[in-house]
Amino acid sequence: MKTLRIGLLGLGQIGGGLYKLLRSKKEQYKRELGISLELAKVADIDRKKQRELKIPKSVFTTDAWDVVRDPSLDVIVELIGGTKIARELVKESMKYGKDVVTANKALLAEYGDEIFELAHEMNRWILFEASVGGGIPVIKALREGLVANRIDSILSIINGTSNYILSKMTETGADFEEALKEAQQKGYAESDPTLDIDGSDAAHKLAILARFAFGGRVKFSHIYCEGISKIRSEDILFAKELGYRIKLLAIAKAMHGGIEARVQPTLLPESHILANVNGSFNAILMRGDEVGDVLFYGRGAGSGPTASAVFSNLIDIALREGSRFGDRTMMMRGIRGNLKIKNISSILSRYYLRFYVVDKPGVLARISQVLGKHRISISDVIQKERSEGNVVPLYLLTHDAHENDVRKAIHAIDRLRIIRGKSQLIRIENN
Ligand code: HSE
Repeated sequence: MKTLRIGLLGLGQIGGGLYKLLRSKKEQYKRELGISLELAKVADIDRKKQRELKIPKSVFTTDAWDVVRDPSLDVIVELIGGTKIARELVKESMKYGKDVVTANKALLAEYGDEIFELAHEMNRWILFEASVGGGIPVIKALREGLVANRIDSILSIINGTSNYILSKMTETGADFEEALKEAQQKGYAESDPTLDIDGSDAAHKLAILARFAFGGRVKFSHIYCEGISKIRSEDILFAKELGYRIKLLAIAKAMHGGIEARVQPTLLPESHILANVNGSFNAILMRGDEVGDVLFYGRGAGSGPTASAVFSNLIDIALREGSRFGDRTMMMRGIRGNLKIKNISSILSRYYLRFYVVDKPGVLARISQVLGKHRISISDVIQKERSEGNVVPLYLLTHDAHENDVRKAIHAIDRLRIIRGKSQLIRIENN
């Protein structure tokens, strides 16, 4: 029987989950898959974890370097996270001849070139199914199931925390803070929830998807990223009345002249399949030139789903003859050239705009005059409240317009004397 000797780094929520999974189902996997997965060494800086998880003393260490340099191990599972120590440990593992499995999206998004190039040079694998979409096998789908396709677009909900927050706000009218607290209690949020809220976590995942969907290096800093903290409950309610839902989407599209890659709150028609992905669920909708639309839906966070994805990569490694070719081809695909990410100012989109205006005759005319001057055509205008002389919200939807024009127009509108407070801009996605 094949034995895979595993070194595990990090016993946080995911690492702890993986440890329990491998221990509780070890015999079952032996029987069903004919593979023995041996957790030979486990490292965490916190000694308490050893007692909590009842890890034998001979297996546990607080020194991760000891694990990555151990010649008896075949594979290192990196579940520490972050881009500092994890980056060094992953590189050292490969230099010491080990394959690596990681869930570390920040590391692959920001240092993917270095990591994938080293893997290629050392002839090692780096597998990362858990880095995007938690338990959803979307990387495998790109690598194997969709390999015949040129990917034209990706529309995705890949941050469970922000989806939970927006869903909660939509369903119950809850405010942002209350919904965030619940998401944290349920264990979806990152240790620093700013990464969830400001869109960086989704941008990290989008960088990985784009790299392998479109085939080439992605400069992470070129991905446009906007979070959900600017969304007010009135935007959600108004969008709902117009038949839209607001979602944090991670979007990548192959366009003439480059790739559009952006994370942004988005108005989606309520009939759109992604508009109905609620709570902490993730979903990735990809369009391939042969297959058409494919939708992946599931849990993007939590110890069970993430351990499930890490486990599948361990099996890939154990059955290496079968999949080595596929994985190495995929890795090379991600470093074979540079993808040109288009600047956000060049995109074409429909927009939802919200202004706070002084309620008096001629206000709408002033605003539409500025929009018209910037070639922006209005499709709907609504002012709900009537309160002569006071400040009221004014909502506008536009037809397709250039982002550059819209920004210039908003800048000009914000300087008008009839405007109070900061204007809101949310892009609309119809396809
Ligand atoms: N914080 C992430 C999310 C978890 O909310 O989706 C897994 O990446």
